[in-house]
Amino acid sequence: MPPPTSSSAAIRRLSDTDPADARSAPHASTPNDPRALWLRAFRSVRAETERRAAPLGPEDQVVQSMPDASPTKWHRAHTTWFFEQFLLAPHLAGYRVFDDEFAYLFNSYYVTAGPRHARPRRGLITRPDLQHVAAYRAHVDDAVERLLADADDTQLVDVTRILEIGLHHEQQHQELLVTDVLHAFAQNPIAPIYDSHWRPPPAQTQSRDFVDLPPGLHIIGFDGEGYSFDNEGPAHQVYLRPVRIARSLVTNAQWLEFIADHGYATPSLWLSDGWAAVEAEGWQAPGYWRRADGAWLQFTPAGLKPVEPDAPVVHVSYYEADAFARWAGKDLPTEAEWEVAARAAVIDDAFGVVWQWTRSAYSPYPGYRPPPGALGEYNGKFMINQMVLRGSSHATPAGHARLSYRNFFYPPARWQFSGVRLAHYAG
Ligand SMILES: [Fe+2]
Repeated sequence: MPPPTSSSAAIRRLSDTDPADARSAPHASTPNDPRALWLRAFRSVRAETERRAAPLGPEDQVVQSMPDASPTKWHRAHTTWFFEQFLLAPHLAGYRVFDDEFAYLFNSYYVTAGPRHARPRRGLITRPDLQHVAAYRAHVDDAVERLLADADDTQLVDVTRILEIGLHHEQQHQELLVTDVLHAFAQNPIAPIYDSHWRPPPAQTQSRDFVDLPPGLHIIGFDGEGYSFDNEGPAHQVYLRPVRIARSLVTNAQWLEFIADHGYATPSLWLSDGWAAVEAEGWQAPGYWRRADGAWLQFTPAGLKPVEPDAPVVHVSYYEADAFARWAGKDLPTEAEWEVAARAAVIDDAFGVVWQWTRSAYSPYPGYRPPPGALGEYNGKFMINQMVLRGSSHATPAGHARLSYRNFFYPPARWQFSGVRLAHYAG
């Protein structure tokens, strides 16, 4: 592992990225020594994973605090397996698999790639230990670098296509690494600190203004240069009725008003499944909020901190976002409305603060088809029963945000850095 680096520095960099030209890795058609550019991108992404893991000890990296969260060690190994399975095995002649048993341990959900360990039991994999996983990463890193150096120009097109998917895949796991550690640490009564320098991401504005979006036909979805996941296309027309979208994110101060007005105790504000979650989970506030001596504290990467009224609310589920919108006499935007607003640059803090729930179900865009082969399992098969979040959070790696990016989680999920932006329909 590299020497420990302040993860807050890594996290701070995330919000500096302009999503309009965000790209962590060069496009395959980049002129002037593409091998060197890809090599730099590969090393940079791999190092970022290690930077985020660096503050964590061996015990921290093994624990799995719930079925949806994975251990840090597993994230580090799984992202490595991804390159081994989809890039090295098919493309590097004579590649020697590091350990025949790792495919079973570190395959996540690729049925086409073979049998795999049960997701809820990832925390039981005490062995291989951290050193062995670090050696696995080094073994695969060396092989990828060799492949990049030795591939002929024809082969390089295929190699960099898979490499690019692997890099964006690893970036997704970098954010999960942080949210999963936060969830694990939140279970510990002594409230451990992941990063003492962490601060709540400041919002650009705390305006309660709403902005009119132009009604009529618009185009959403990815259509351009650079990388996108398959689920971001095809680009297509959408029709917007007159709608106003909030310029700013919902703040903790607004959420405190919701709590004070018995928002969590008023069934009529909630979807049926949402109310069932409130009752079953005993929700009285956003995730990681704790009441102490009459004040609200929030567990954060820097440990327990007072809830800051001006900071955007975070760690709320779709159910809570929906109930809040109903209480406020507003709505959640559709993902089309969000994207039109973000493309027009009429909203603040679209990126780099908190993911924003939309009321759009995660379903395929018209004409979408998953790509052939095992990588077709990446997104398409999850297009059921989940809701779309847009934007990015302060834990999203630099270069990973896009105007067309579609994140998705199940409605009760609230361990991600998920927040709320409201919309309002005229009449
Ligand atoms: Fe994965």
